Formats: sequence, C-alpha cells, structure tokens
Amino acid sequence: MLKLAVLISGGGSNLKAIIEAAGDPLYPAEVVCVGADTDAAGLAHAAAAGIPHFVIRPSDYDSREEWGMALAAAIQEHGVGTGPNPGLVVSAGLMRILPAGFVREFSPNLINTHPALLPLFPGAHAVRDALAAGATETGVTVHVIDEGVDTGPVLRQSVVEIREGEPEDGLHERIKQQERPLLVDTIRQIATGELDLSQFS
Ligand code: GAR
Repeated sequence: MLKLAVLISGGGSNLKAIIEAAGDPLYPAEVVCVGADTDAAGLAHAAAAGIPHFVIRPSDYDSREEWGMALAAAIQEHGVGTGPNPGLVVSAGLMRILPAGFVREFSPNLINTHPALLPLFPGAHAVRDALAAGATETGVTVHVIDEGVDTGPVLRQSVVEIREGEPEDGLHERIKQQERPLLVDTIRQIATGELDLSQFS
C-alpha cells in the first residue's frame, strides 16, 4: 500500500477524489496525512474521513526554506519520506513553490498536478494565462516535482478544448473534471510500479 501525503491550499476537490478512490479496498494507495499552507477549505475532506491534517504557514517562518523543512518534518511524522517505503507526496492544489530543500528531501517521490499542458502556462494562473494567450486547447499535467517551477518530468497529460468566450472559472472546472480521474489513476500507476519514479532520481 502506497502511503500518500497530500498538500492543498484550496477547496481540495482533487484530495476528495483521492480519498474516495482510496476507499476502494482494491486501490493500492492510502492518504495518511493532509497538509496545507493556510486554513484551506479542503481540510474538511480530511477531517470527514478521519485523516490526520495540519496547517504549516509560511508567515510563521523566517524563510521559505525553513517553512519547507517544517512541512517536511510534519509529513515525515506520518511515515512519508522515510524508511524503505517512502510513499508519495502529492501536491494537489498547493499554491506555493516547494523550496529546494523540501524537494531534495522527497525526490523523486513527489508529484504535482497542474491545470495546463506543461511546458505551456506554468505558474499560479495557468487557466487565465491560456485564455489570455488565445489558446484553443489546454488541459492538465501530472508531473514529478523538481527544483524548478512546474518544470519536472511529465508523467501524464489530458487535453481540454477551450470553448469560444469561455470564462476562467468554467474552463477550470472542466479541466478539474479531467484532472481528478487522471491524478487518481497516475497515483494508482505509481503504486503498482507501472510508473517507476526511481528513473527520475
Ligand atoms: C487544481 O486545478 C490544480 O491543478 C491547481 O489548483 C486546483 C486545485 O483544485 N493547481 C495549480 O494551479 C498549481 N499551480 P482543488 O483544490 O479543487 O483540488
């Protein structure tokens, strides 16, 4: 069973999808903890499922690196990132760049989901940027996190056509409808060894 630490900042619909998938005894991964950088609404999904959760705020630390080390320690307390079965850290809507020290601590067992077809539209406003660029399609990317911003090796992608005059929130919601099953399935593939992250170490 692959142990997951899921990191969020917002509503946590991806987290909810992972928790629901893991409710199936045949799903090969379980969420052992959920971390956030703020009082994210999505923490309620962890609470409802009885999953340990915590908030580690950057404003409580002198530097991003120190925040990252505190976040890493909180995750490691739940057995992710330690021992022979280090599990997987899943950034599922965490709206912060994970500092280099944090990435080195967990690499390569560290993935992110991003609402665009990377390398197009990295960063915090991927859906808005795709619309502003006049793109006719965008999508979602699940990738291994490296020390860059949305630059790590791509594991899976799914394309979403952009509709004429579509608002940002509507497009983002349609992206998320494809994102949730893609992320759930990518985690399954990592858990079964179908996707081998050790090639990225
Ligand atoms: C997701 O679409 C995720 O890809 C995006 O935030 C959303 C979180 O939704 N992440 C980023 O934009 C990171 N740059 P959720 O809270 O409903 O899971």
